[in-house]
Amino acid sequence: MIMAFSQLSERIRPIIKECGAFILKERQSFTKSMVELKGKADLVSYVDKETEKKLVKGLNQVLPESGFITEENTTDQSRKEYTWIIDPLDGTTNFVHGIPSFAVSVALMHDSEIVLGVVYEVNRDEYFEAWKGGGAFLNQQKINVSDVSNLEESLFSTGFPTDQFSNVDEFMQILRNLLSQSHGIRRMGSAAADLAYVACGRLEGFFEYNLKPWDVAAGALIVQEAGGIVTDFSGGSDYLFGREIVVAGPVHGKLLDVIKADWKY
Ligand code: IPD
Ligand code: CA
Ligand code: CA
Repeated sequence: MIMAFSQLSERIRPIIKECGAFILKERQSFTKSMVELKGKADLVSYVDKETEKKLVKGLNQVLPESGFITEENTTDQSRKEYTWIIDPLDGTTNFVHGIPSFAVSVALMHDSEIVLGVVYEVNRDEYFEAWKGGGAFLNQQKINVSDVSNLEESLFSTGFPTDQFSNVDEFMQILRNLLSQSHGIRRMGSAAADLAYVACGRLEGFFEYNLKPWDVAAGALIVQEAGGIVTDFSGGSDYLFGREIVVAGPVHGKLLDVIKADWKY
């Protein structure tokens, strides 16, 4: 038996905050010549990798014997009874271009259930956290999803694909339908921050395809603990590894209907 999740959250907070401070410090002297390409539009740098190493080292000290699933592969990828799922810097393209929306995302999975999640939006010093059954918090104040249940009063967010363009036409049709029925759609550039913003009611909903487990694991739990609904594009529960996610408060059903009307499998 490990320590209580509330206690674990306390223990990892300084580690994640320190990583946020490191990212901000490096940003001051960062230039585009420091970027490496993982794909045509898939950017990375030493900041992502060094942050990941710091997280792995710190979290391993708090919970020895845990496994890791991490975006930048700086450690052995192994699933254990307890596994950390880490995106050290979500919003790398924003980071590289000097746009201030990027976050550290850390989740803990017990067997196959996410039990703890943190999204730290470093520029705003906003620390979102949740643990299973404990509620969701922004800078240690309880948060809830929006209570808006109609599309007309809803503001949504999504992400645009940078590869995998085979579904782009139906995705555009979904955007077209939603734009004409809502307060609009944002593309902020950090899925973890998008999820956190749904959890605290700034956005009514968020959806995106082709996301990876480290993009969504922490934020999905934070939304659920804030009273929101999290599904894949067909309304099922395969959102962690299934590369489709829809999250919202009470408007979730209506948002899902718009997505399902055009999404083809
Ligand atoms: C990206 C961000 C972005 C989403 C991309 C992700 P990264 O993560 O979350 O909002 O649209 O699909 O890959 O690469 O900055 O960690
Ligand atoms: Ca990411
Ligand atoms: Ca990343």
